[in-house]
Amino acid sequence: MEDKFYLTTPIYYPSDRLHIGHSYTTVAADTLARYKKLRGYDVMFVTGTDDHGQKIERVAAKNGKTPQKYVDEIVDGIKELWRLMEIDYDIFIRTSDDYHIKGVQKIFRLLYEKGDIYKSVYEDWYCTECETFFTERQLVDGKCPDCSRGVEKVKEESYFFRISKYQKRLERFWDENPDFILPLSRKNEMVNNFLKPGLEDLCVSRTSFTWGIPVDFDPGHVVYVWIDALSNYITALGYGGSDETLFRKYWPADIHLMAKEIVRFHAVIWPIMLMALDLPLPKGVFGHGWITIDDSKMSKSKGNVVDPKTLVERYGLDAVRYFILREFSFGQDGAFSNEALLNRINSDLANDLGNLLSRTVGMIDKYFGGALPEDQRSSPFDGQIEEMAGVTVSRTAEFMDKYMFHDALAVIWKFIRRLNKYADENEPWALVKDESKKAELAGVMYVLAEGLRIVSMLISPFMPRTPGHIWRQLGINDENSRSWTSIETFGVLHKNIRITKGDILFPRIDIKKELALISELS
Ligand code: MSP
Repeated sequence: MEDKFYLTTPIYYPSDRLHIGHSYTTVAADTLARYKKLRGYDVMFVTGTDDHGQKIERVAAKNGKTPQKYVDEIVDGIKELWRLMEIDYDIFIRTSDDYHIKGVQKIFRLLYEKGDIYKSVYEDWYCTECETFFTERQLVDGKCPDCSRGVEKVKEESYFFRISKYQKRLERFWDENPDFILPLSRKNEMVNNFLKPGLEDLCVSRTSFTWGIPVDFDPGHVVYVWIDALSNYITALGYGGSDETLFRKYWPADIHLMAKEIVRFHAVIWPIMLMALDLPLPKGVFGHGWITIDDSKMSKSKGNVVDPKTLVERYGLDAVRYFILREFSFGQDGAFSNEALLNRINSDLANDLGNLLSRTVGMIDKYFGGALPEDQRSSPFDGQIEEMAGVTVSRTAEFMDKYMFHDALAVIWKFIRRLNKYADENEPWALVKDESKKAELAGVMYVLAEGLRIVSMLISPFMPRTPGHIWRQLGINDENSRSWTSIETFGVLHKNIRITKGDILFPRIDIKKELALISELS
């Protein structure tokens, strides 16, 4: 039986200006999904949007729209962006979808009937200017942390989720599953900031706004934020509905991917919700770092939005996807800069990969009339290349299995650079002049083409378009040469496949000029 792999991104707040930081989670998830498929897994990849909440209700009203109409338009734009970035998800869930609403109502009721949700009074500080609630701890000198104006104490009848009851069980679960919170460094943060001070019951309903899922046994209350949002990971699979086939097949999740600031909800509230529902717990949550600009998290309110659409249109999808997964170490924060992006395009993509393909295709064309010669390896460097190919494939797999995307790309590029060096060491342009070296020359060309075949498969989860260009130019049409298992063997390409010279993969960019242009544009 095929193994299954269920992975998720967070569901996104509807925003018409998703920036490159948002795309980080989806691009990583999509890359992982493609990789797992290549490895033979039956993959389920869920993403979506978190449609509810007071903020949306307010903005919609300002725009003279119903919240539903307002979010529908924005969500169309988000789906459009994911199409542009070739995010190949299986299910796109929206918390305003009917089946999700029913699922959440069922979950809320089950928790209530079990005594894990109870009614009490929510008391907190409210800033009328920002129309936002704050806890005592969030205030700065007793004032609103956002606008520094005075705040007032507000009381509201609310339901609470008894998460304090589950503290011991959660501690035990974390201890018994040391790989549950990844990267490992995030776990200490969680223990010190949340477990040690003691878990507090969580407010899970509101009466002060209506754009949310109604509590069906107590109209007037809507389900507040996290119970609504986190449940998506199971309602997407049909939990609580009339057909739970997908849920039975794919749950528990193999990995929930997200940025670091929402790990606590996934590592604390989510497992406790599942414990209370008597459901299996996910195998892991991974909190990646933030992509920052000028040392702060990119955000719309900070005005430093970097639009992924513009980047993709200017530099191409594969370059952008490559850059964000190569430049930043997945667990850590990383600073975005156009200069770093352009440097990567020129050095890694144009110089290393692009050059390797164009010189290989060019030489096979010139020296062998466009047909790949037979495998007649005789260069003293062949053994090294073959060995390195094997190591590159297995190390890439190891890194991918640990969500270390940038390390995987680093190993792949090491191999690409080695192949370029191999071409230089063997000097095919000199070999061609000596008739007695014809077999050696053929061997060199074969090794380069075969190396590129392996590279094309390794990069395929990251870069959806480039492998196709490589295959077209090298004439790799046989599906059997385009599988993961095929790259575990060196020497699979058949002789006489026809190569076709094509466009340059990644044109070099004049960085100075481009940077000047960008600063004019922004
Ligand atoms: N709706 C919640 C998630 C609920 S999941 C049950 C949410 N939405 S969000 O739109 O604000 O964020 C979506 C994802 O994008 C989160 O993983 C968030 O942390 C991530 N990022 C937003 N800005 C980011 C950066 N600048 N850098 C990296 N990731 C960023 O949170």
